[in-house]
Amino acid sequence: MNTRRLEEIRPKIKALEAMPAVPTIVQPLTSMLRLPPEEVDMERVVELVSYDSTIAAQCLRMANSPLFGRRDTETVRSAVLALGLKRVEAILLGCCLSRIVPADKWAFDAATFWRHSLGCALVSSKMAKLIGYPDPEKAYLAGLLHDLGILVNMIACTEDFRACLQAARDGRVALHRCEEEHLGFTHCQSGKILAEHWNFSADVIAAIEFHHHIVPESAARPLVSLVYLSDSLCRLRDLGYGYYEAMGVDLAGDAAWTALVEHYPALAKVDLARLTMDIDGAMEEIVAIVDAVFSPGQPAAE
Ligand SMILES: [Fe+2]
Ligand SMILES: [Fe+2]
Repeated sequence: MNTRRLEEIRPKIKALEAMPAVPTIVQPLTSMLRLPPEEVDMERVVELVSYDSTIAAQCLRMANSPLFGRRDTETVRSAVLALGLKRVEAILLGCCLSRIVPADKWAFDAATFWRHSLGCALVSSKMAKLIGYPDPEKAYLAGLLHDLGILVNMIACTEDFRACLQAARDGRVALHRCEEEHLGFTHCQSGKILAEHWNFSADVIAAIEFHHHIVPESAARPLVSLVYLSDSLCRLRDLGYGYYEAMGVDLAGDAAWTALVEHYPALAKVDLARLTMDIDGAMEEIVAIVDAVFSPGQPAAE
């Protein structure tokens, strides 16, 4: 990692906080969502979501997706109730984060980025449930935010990042490898700086920093491993960055799976063929959900 180069962009990352594009409903809505569930005024949440047409539309599309039984949810109120506060919060985060990137700085279309992020969120929470990880909602959030640094790199070093993406497409290789080569750091490191600046929890910060590189023991290792595997599965299943990567995922031989087994010894006895089939089945459903949320021609969250 090129520390000097990362230090050069650090002030630009901090400057992101001052950007004015954050929707006006975010502050009251996020502070309400921090309250204990029994103290949350659902009618007020519905009212706030209704103020922002993009967020309201995202909630409706998600509530009408196969994950929620394709029910005919037509009102913001029924969408918010069907989704629950955690998912409303995740949609809110996705919408807000989209808005920090000016339109002329996107290196690929925003829908591609959010398809990958939502796909990774859904796979992370599904895998969390399958292996008995205690906090599937945390896994969902970490999956949704894991590539935050890509947004940072698009803003802070737009042209260099475009060159990275082109090199990755041409070589059919992982984006972070090209970032290492062209930028001297990856979206993992720049994402970590922004996540710290925004006071995300320590385990979500670790998932952002290490989702391409499993490190030795830490309390966040199971969450990091879940996000690492989910990211790989999404890139393998056409929920990546819009280009083909020459890669494969062998669960049994993967360092992230080994890390999970070390943490949850019972996983050593799990029938991996069966688990792979379950994940395969879930992937089909997840692709359908992502397509429902980002239907063709539908702009991503802004
Ligand atoms: Fe990544
Ligand atoms: Fe990713």
